[in-house]
Amino acid sequence: MVEIVETKSALRARADAARAAGQRVGLVPTMGFLHEGHRSLMQAARRACDVVIVTIFVNPMQFGPNEDLDRYPRDLDGDLDACRAEGVDIVFAPSIREMYPREPSTTVVHVAELTTGLCGESRPGHFDGVTTIVTKLFAITGPCHAYFGRKDAQQLAVITRMVDELDLPVTVVGCPLVRESDGLALSSRNAYLSAEHRTIAPQIHAALCLAADAVAAGETDPRRAVDIVRAHLRQWPDFSIDYVACVDSATLQAVDQIDADTLLAVAVRLGSTRLIDNVLLGASS
Ligand code: PAJ
Repeated sequence: MVEIVETKSALRARADAARAAGQRVGLVPTMGFLHEGHRSLMQAARRACDVVIVTIFVNPMQFGPNEDLDRYPRDLDGDLDACRAEGVDIVFAPSIREMYPREPSTTVVHVAELTTGLCGESRPGHFDGVTTIVTKLFAITGPCHAYFGRKDAQQLAVITRMVDELDLPVTVVGCPLVRESDGLALSSRNAYLSAEHRTIAPQIHAALCLAADAVAAGETDPRRAVDIVRAHLRQWPDFSIDYVACVDSATLQAVDQIDADTLLAVAVRLGSTRLIDNVLLGASS
């Protein structure tokens, strides 16, 4: 039986009781419209923790003024079914007012440096919204483990750095990126794609694979890897490239030479839909 909780106080009471009983609390923060990527995080939490909490909250603070907050896809009933199927114990689905009684929030958690490049460049303020809501969720639930997908590699690096530098008592677990069978990274935003754009979208992953193949064959120059991705995507004029970059997966700084920690990350627009993807170069997957 999944328990649905809508208030911070009820969630805190439930998590406190679990911890007092010696149970390990695992947290999976999401914005809902759950897919197999989200479900893989729930499965990882289920394996390691006694109490699994999934949060479903479309966090206004991480959306820019011209972004898709109003049309972000929602399906609470479907989400609850997915949570039930994964054996989740608690779903926290608060209102905006519950999370932000004072709007805008006067307190903001800001991670510098790692948030300026990549998605931070075209989405100013986005990561402040992410780190603020995630900190609040950590504070309310006190999890021993919190699960995040490698799909959002910059988000994972930013949260990992925040937890380290603020000495937060939680272990951040990065989980593998889950893809459709044609390679497209699963994302709630894939629902926006037209049928035609949906057929083109897997070329993002195909482009990353071409670069990864070159690296596997001995290429170590990050500029070359970036060129391979750009050249591939240019064949479909509907792609508008936001960035293609080779960075260190932890510091997100540009690298001179590709090694096993190098992340090749890409963001594109396809029509009005912004899609991101990445691969770890030099790694076997
Ligand atoms: P959302 O986009 O709903 O994603 C929730 C979690 O699912 C994130 O950790 C994300 O990386 C992971 N995820 C999404 N697609 C995935 C995929 N294809 N494979 C593996 N994991 C995937 O990320 C957010 O929400 C928000 O920023 C949040 C952290 C909840 C803060 O509001």
